[in-house]
Amino acid sequence: MLKFLIDADTGIDDSVAIYYALKHPNVRVVGITTSFGNTTAPQGAENSLRLIKMANPGYEVPVVVGENKPLFGDWHGPEYHIHGSNGIGGVEIPETDQKPLDMKAEDFIIQMAKEHGRELTIITLGRMTNLALALKKEPELPNMVKNVIFMGGTYKERGNVLPMSEANIFGDPEAADIVLQAGFDITMVGLDVTHKTQVTPEVLQKLLKYATPENKAFAEYIVKATNDVYFPFNHAQNNCLDRSPVHDPSALVYATHPQLFTTRKIPCRVECKGEYTRGMIVADLREYPMDAKYLNICVDVDNVRCLERIIATFTEKAFAIG
Ligand code: RIB
Ligand code: CA
Repeated sequence: MLKFLIDADTGIDDSVAIYYALKHPNVRVVGITTSFGNTTAPQGAENSLRLIKMANPGYEVPVVVGENKPLFGDWHGPEYHIHGSNGIGGVEIPETDQKPLDMKAEDFIIQMAKEHGRELTIITLGRMTNLALALKKEPELPNMVKNVIFMGGTYKERGNVLPMSEANIFGDPEAADIVLQAGFDITMVGLDVTHKTQVTPEVLQKLLKYATPENKAFAEYIVKATNDVYFPFNHAQNNCLDRSPVHDPSALVYATHPQLFTTRKIPCRVECKGEYTRGMIVADLREYPMDAKYLNICVDVDNVRCLERIIATFTEKAFAIG
C-alpha cells in the first residue's frame, strides 16, 4: 500500500489528482493540507472535504488548512480567471459535515512523518510553503519520510508565469528552494511532462459517458468545472488549441506509475530574485556544478498511457483518447 500526504491549492486539476488518489486501490491518503494559489487555503480545504465525501474512500482523511501567503511578502489573491470563483470552476459540489482539524499544517506534516515514517510520500500540488515551514520546525524530515514528489517547475519547457517559471514555484520560490536543498529524495513533475499530457473537452465527454455509477457525480462535476473558465483560459494560453495540460494528476500518476516517466538527476537551485527569472529552476549541467542538492526531474512521459491511467480511475471501459 502506498501512503500519500497531499498538499494542494485545491483547484480544478488538484481535484482530479486528489480524487485519483482517493479512488486508487493501492493508495491510502493519510491527509490533505492546503495552501494558497488556485484559491485560498480555507476554500481549498472546503473543496478537499467535499471531494472526500464525493469519493467516499471508505476511511477517514483528515484535512488541515495551511498557509495563505508565501514565506516573504503578500499574496495578491486567487486566479479566478483560471479556476473560477471557488477554485473549482464555480461548481457547488455537495457539502459535508467533516471539518478541518484545528492545527497548523506544518505540525500535521511532522505528525504524519512520525506516524508513517519511511512509508510516507509527501506530494505537493501547489506552493511548497507548508512543507518549508515543517522543515523549519523539523529539519530531520528528509530522513523521516520516503520521498517528496511535487508538481511544479520546468526544466526545458517554456514557463507559464515567466519565460522559464511555473506558477507553483513562482508563487513561493524561497519555500521551494528550502525544500529542494533540504536533502529529500525529491522528484519534479514539471511542465516538461505536464504540457505533453493534454486533455480535450471530447475526452471529458467520453469520460462522462463511460463513468461507472459511483464516479458519475465526479465526471459531471469535472465537465462543468472545466467548461466555463478552465478550457477557455487554456484555449487562450495555448495558441487557441482546445486542450489543457494535465498538471497535478500527472504528479499522482508518477507516484503510482513511475515507469511511465523518464527522469534525470541534476543539481538544482531555485532563482529567488530576477525580474524575468524569479521562480526558475536553475539546473546546472556543467562538469563542475554549483553546490546544490540533486533533483530528480521528469524529462519525458508516455503521455497516452499517463492519460489512460487517469481515465481508468473513472471508467470500466477503455476508449480511444486520440
Ligand atoms: O502551473 C500549474 C500548477 O499551478 C498546478 O498545480 C495548478 O493547479 C496550479 O496550482
Ligand atoms: Ca495545484
